[in-house]
Amino acid sequence: MEENNTSADMQDNQSLDEQNSQELQTKKKRGGFTSKIGFVLAAAGSAVGLGNIWRFPYLAAKYGGGIFLLTYIVLAVTFGFVLMIAEIALGRKTGMSAINAFKKLNKKWAFLGVLCAIIPIIILPYYSVIGGWVGKYFFTYITGGGASAAGDNFFNAFITSPWQPLLFFFIFVSIVFVVVLFGVEKGVEKVSKFLMPALVLLTIGVTIYALTMPGSAEGIKYYLLPDFKKFSVKTVLAALGQLFYSMSLAMGIMITYGSYMKKQDKIESSVHQIEVFDTGIALLSGLMIIPAAYAFSGGNPETLGQGPGLMFVALPKVFANFGNVGGGILGALFFALVLFAALTSAISLMETVVSIVIDKFHLSRKKSSVIVYVGTLLLGIPSSLGFGVWSAVSVGGMTILDMFDFLSNSILMPIAALLTCVFIGYVVGCQNLTDEIELNGPFKFKKFFNVMIKYVCPICIAAILVTSILDAFGVFNI
Ligand code: PFF
Repeated sequence: MEENNTSADMQDNQSLDEQNSQELQTKKKRGGFTSKIGFVLAAAGSAVGLGNIWRFPYLAAKYGGGIFLLTYIVLAVTFGFVLMIAEIALGRKTGMSAINAFKKLNKKWAFLGVLCAIIPIIILPYYSVIGGWVGKYFFTYITGGGASAAGDNFFNAFITSPWQPLLFFFIFVSIVFVVVLFGVEKGVEKVSKFLMPALVLLTIGVTIYALTMPGSAEGIKYYLLPDFKKFSVKTVLAALGQLFYSMSLAMGIMITYGSYMKKQDKIESSVHQIEVFDTGIALLSGLMIIPAAYAFSGGNPETLGQGPGLMFVALPKVFANFGNVGGGILGALFFALVLFAALTSAISLMETVVSIVIDKFHLSRKKSSVIVYVGTLLLGIPSSLGFGVWSAVSVGGMTILDMFDFLSNSILMPIAALLTCVFIGYVVGCQNLTDEIELNGPFKFKKFFNVMIKYVCPICIAAILVTSILDAFGVFNI
């Protein structure tokens, strides 16, 4: 009997030990989460990436400048704020990542975890294609080719080349894979504490310079003054998709981050900080790129709607003004820092996808990482070739990359966000989450949160989605 007890105890102890060491490992992996500022920095590190520096400016240029900016800010302080609070609270309450969090609270809603899991799987490959483009520019600058990068046809020649974008995409994904495989994200996180502020300072510097260039005044007006005639449901859909993308919302990421947050840390104020940081960098990037693009295109808004190439076309021309040496150093520094921001975001994306594969298929970390690596390469190839060899392939007038981008940001994320609101508002109950948020102090925006989650967010998102789908099918034109 005693012996039995002992062996049972031993087994218990062993499993407790295993659990403890697992917890410890998880904690180690997400070591920054021992303090609130650590949590904010880690979440902001995932949030700030190509979405802010590359995607926001080109969307703002495409969707009417000031009116897009205004729509984005309004959505950020309403939808963005509420959804980020909801996701972090959901994660902290359940202590689980998205794929299990929904299931834990209601078995029938497990599908929403799966939907959230699909989104990063779609984003990672094409995110890495753009990461590869940044890598190419960095490489061009450090090898002394800054002057050619400012040439009119440089960007186009690069993305239409049959193998160059593929090569840089391959290198980018491989770096991300190595970091995830060897679990050295911690080291990357440490360095990012210095490099991210450096990126912000450099962006401020370049912005100030770009704003003083002749011809930029028109661009500043275009970017800052809303023209209400340019407002349409498409503006709202684009801004909403961008908001989710930029803040890493509606794809389960913030649920996972929340699951590692300490109970005594304040959710509400953390969200304010992450939001201000993320939105601030996006707005600044727009201010750096759009007036410059305006100045170089001779105030031709048509050229402004360059699409995904805007940053790559406009900035080298700004750097070229500093001469061969100065411009070369500036360009190399800038693209190195953007590359770093892209890498940290891609690492957090791949990390998420790897843990989904581990959870779902119960494979080792190594095997899962290899599967995700190969899968990312395969899925990214069409996006990369879509600008060159496969440029004839277009879905609804979009390139392959644009199509993946549209599918994740403008369709799946709004659906995931809508369902998350319904889940919280009507299945789990807002009270359940607000209790979690109030664990350590009052929740100032509680009433606002409840009304937004139950009524405003789901109704508005549904309306935006239905209108744009009807528009896509040509039922009416918006
Ligand atoms: N929010 C990132 C950006 O703006 O670049 C994109 C992203 C990174 C989304 C990491 C999701 C994620 F897990």
